[in-house]
Amino acid sequence: MINVEALTKSYDGFTAVDNVNFVCRPGRVTGFLGPNGAGKTTTMRMMVGLTTPTSGRVTIGGHLYQDIPNPGRHVGILLDASAQHAGRTGREVLTLGAKTMGLPLSRVDEMLELVSLSGKEGDRRIRNYSLGMRQRLGIAHALLGDPSVLILDEPANGLDPAGIRWMRGLLREYADRGGAVLLSSHLLTEVQQVADDIIMIGRGKIVAQGTPAELMQTTGTFVRAADNAVLLQALAKHDISANPVGDGFRADANAAKIGRITASAQIPLLELRPADGGLEDLFLELTADTQRETVLKGAAA
Ligand SMILES: Nc1ncnc2c1ncn2[C@@H]1O[C@H](COP(=O)(O)OP(=O)(O)O)[C@@H](O)[C@H]1O
Ligand SMILES: [Mg+2]
Repeated sequence: MINVEALTKSYDGFTAVDNVNFVCRPGRVTGFLGPNGAGKTTTMRMMVGLTTPTSGRVTIGGHLYQDIPNPGRHVGILLDASAQHAGRTGREVLTLGAKTMGLPLSRVDEMLELVSLSGKEGDRRIRNYSLGMRQRLGIAHALLGDPSVLILDEPANGLDPAGIRWMRGLLREYADRGGAVLLSSHLLTEVQQVADDIIMIGRGKIVAQGTPAELMQTTGTFVRAADNAVLLQALAKHDISANPVGDGFRADANAAKIGRITASAQIPLLELRPADGGLEDLFLELTADTQRETVLKGAAA
């Protein structure tokens, strides 16, 4: 179990991680979702003692990471798959890891096999690995010590679609055996298909969290009219808030209510449906004011 408590990191007055609280439970895959620059990597680095928090703390199984003896046996980490000695082979990296953790060397072949780097690929130097191969090796390294907690920062980057599916299966199985997985991504689709819990972060702050189903419930109704301005007026008159999504709006009311309102106001609709497409709209909306473009616009103003 990972416990993130009031975690904050500031750099020269800029708050990269702002009072973040969440837990990551055993037996579950927790998706840590946010656009680039949201603070995912900084949060994960603070979990494992690579970045010192300005305030707050993270415990893993009740302990600070720095206080865990032989941490690789308890916590598997993949933060930057390319942060490996380029001149070593995959096999060498895992062998060094196994020796450091006091593991039988048979683990090395098991892990190479698990991530499909067995045979010649395991004996190639990492400088000649594709990003996808580095991610596979990183996953093998994270799993080497048979830890009960996995912390993976954007592990799907560089994997091909088959590789992403493979990883999803691996993480699902790992969690089903009781492990806790924290998996970050800037892509909703990657997280949505495997996560039991989703934590959404934008500009350093948690903007939503819950199971995918819980987050979907808050998505309301997608509605679009030929004349969106008239539609918006009609909704506002009934105190229904609506946020722009794509070429329509996500309104905080059910379809029946919106249908009645627009029918009586004689507003022809082009679309009226549960905003089920859903989490994606929610994600874009929740993080809308945290996107880079908005930041740039704000800076220019
Ligand atoms: N060492 C640092 N010094 C200054 N700013 C940093 C440092 N590390 C990260 N940041 C800033 O903190 C914000 C969050 O970065 P990061 O955690 O890498 O986001 P993510 O992983 O979600 O893309 C970014 O604006 C980034 O530029
Ligand atoms: Mg990152």
